[in-house]
Amino acid sequence: MQRKIVLIGCGVVGQGFLEILVKKKELLANKFDFEPVLVGVADMMKGSILAQDGIDIPAFLEHVKAKGTVHDFPVESAIVGLNSIDILKQAEADIMVEVTYTDIKTGEPASSHIRTAFEKGMCVATTNKGPITLHFKELVDLAKKNNVLFKYEGVVMSGTPIFDLLDYCLAVNDIHEIKGILNGTTNFMLTKMEDENMSYQDALALAQKLGYAEADPTADVEGFDALAKVIILSNVVLGGSLKPSDAKERIGISGITIEDIQKAKSEGMRYKLIGSTKLENGQIIASVKPVKLPLSDPLAGVGGAVNALTFKTDLSGDITILGPGAGKLETGFAIMIDVINMHQEM
Ligand code: HSE
Repeated sequence: MQRKIVLIGCGVVGQGFLEILVKKKELLANKFDFEPVLVGVADMMKGSILAQDGIDIPAFLEHVKAKGTVHDFPVESAIVGLNSIDILKQAEADIMVEVTYTDIKTGEPASSHIRTAFEKGMCVATTNKGPITLHFKELVDLAKKNNVLFKYEGVVMSGTPIFDLLDYCLAVNDIHEIKGILNGTTNFMLTKMEDENMSYQDALALAQKLGYAEADPTADVEGFDALAKVIILSNVVLGGSLKPSDAKERIGISGITIEDIQKAKSEGMRYKLIGSTKLENGQIIASVKPVKLPLSDPLAGVGGAVNALTFKTDLSGDITILGPGAGKLETGFAIMIDVINMHQEM
């Protein structure tokens, strides 16, 4: 069955998603009866294209990789140069994939994209943390009002399943505390600084090159990205209505030197940036800060751009999931799984 998709944002994650559509074309068709038709793409830097009859995805991907532009991909009768909102208003699509850069302070432009898509009757898959951090309840209500699906598996731990795990496998549990490593960039940096004596700047540059870091990596190293994920977990899983400013503390890794890391190592300890949220006497306490853990702590063994999260449940005890927390294909996969689940639920 054909599903028309409009892609808003064609950077690392958007291209990762398209790569998966190309790579898994036959499996998607044979196993899921899913045939994607890409009807529009908009990217703030690369331009836009609207082609209601569909864009040849493999050729488009090659073009974007080679030229770094969207608007000049040759398609007969395509409309080019529309802004992202106009693309959404004009596109005849079943699903919007929203993968623009995250702005945790305003949630824009992603929140406007999502509202517009819902009002047009499109289902939405996003990995954008801004709207989920700031407007979760409003957007869930708007999706319901417009009778469309809304999925955001990749906003925490990229393609490692969190929300599907909670919705299906842990559904009857009462979860009262969640704690773990929620930022791939900083975990990667801390690992490189400890294992290879790499400088803070070199480790950050490498994380950026590998596509782990945010557009503004301050969000990673100062703990804002991990905090957004902690707020998302507080609101989506613990049922809160917290804003980032409600967190008890938010400390990143910019104050940690190689000397601190090596000293901790000599003491049999390791620094990790830990995010946590818990329900205590009806109140949610959320925080992000570097913690020196003994090497025997399971979280101390989690290296590289890997994330790990422990859910404290009333029926199943502590359940920990560990997996990629950032990356092009990993986050593209989060979109893929949302899209295929929506395709099956529509
Ligand atoms: N910059 C984020 C990280 C990307 O490093 O974890 C995934 O949310």
